[in-house]
Amino acid sequence: MTSLGVPRVHFRRVDSTNARARGLAEAGAPHGTVVTADEQSAGRGRQGRTWSAPPGQALLFSVVLRDPPRLLPLAAGIAVAEEAGTEARIKWPNDVLLDVRKIAGILVEGRPRERWAVLGIGLNVAVKVDELPPELRDRAGSLERGQAEIEPTLNRLLTRIERWLVAPPRALLEAVRARDDLRGRAIRWQAGHGEAAGIDDDGRLVVLTKAGQVVLEAGEVHLG
Ligand code: BTN
Repeated sequence: MTSLGVPRVHFRRVDSTNARARGLAEAGAPHGTVVTADEQSAGRGRQGRTWSAPPGQALLFSVVLRDPPRLLPLAAGIAVAEEAGTEARIKWPNDVLLDVRKIAGILVEGRPRERWAVLGIGLNVAVKVDELPPELRDRAGSLERGQAEIEPTLNRLLTRIERWLVAPPRALLEAVRARDDLRGRAIRWQAGHGEAAGIDDDGRLVVLTKAGQVVLEAGEVHLG
């Protein structure tokens, strides 16, 4: 049993579960409040991108967290990766990959000063990849479970998230490092390129560049 998921608001169609959860958080909703949807018309992704998923085939939800831990983005990533199985890998900070394909996106939006965050997750539970638009088909993956598995997957995932929220940072970092998809690979980001050299104790990505070692706090990296 998990304390996450109560209260729960479900929409058949909504603009963005993150937007709704933020509104609820601002209005004083308790820790653990969850917003789910079968479909989003304006799903939000990282870096200002949109997030889309075929109606009824993905798990789309956001949870309000009071006093979230510092390593929340990593905790969410490992919870999803565990749900996806032993083969799932994490592309820092928290893209979850299965067979080199992204099966989940995680968006943390918060008000650190007000000590809350909204954790939004889109997990392709029952998405049929070959029915996706061509621009997604090459990169997106899916757990390829049935649609009836979406709700049980949510329940298990909430339990996993709750566990990792209170886990010792050392255990969390160890679990994330064990699934680090970038380590030893050539990467590039907006301001440079180098070789990924692991995740430090603050959850940052360490990169070896010609000029020396740099650490990336947040943002996005690409392979190659
Ligand atoms: C990413 O760009 O990788 C993060 C995508 C996060 C998408 C999820 S779907 C549920 C929740 N509601 C949103 O509007 N975004 C997140």
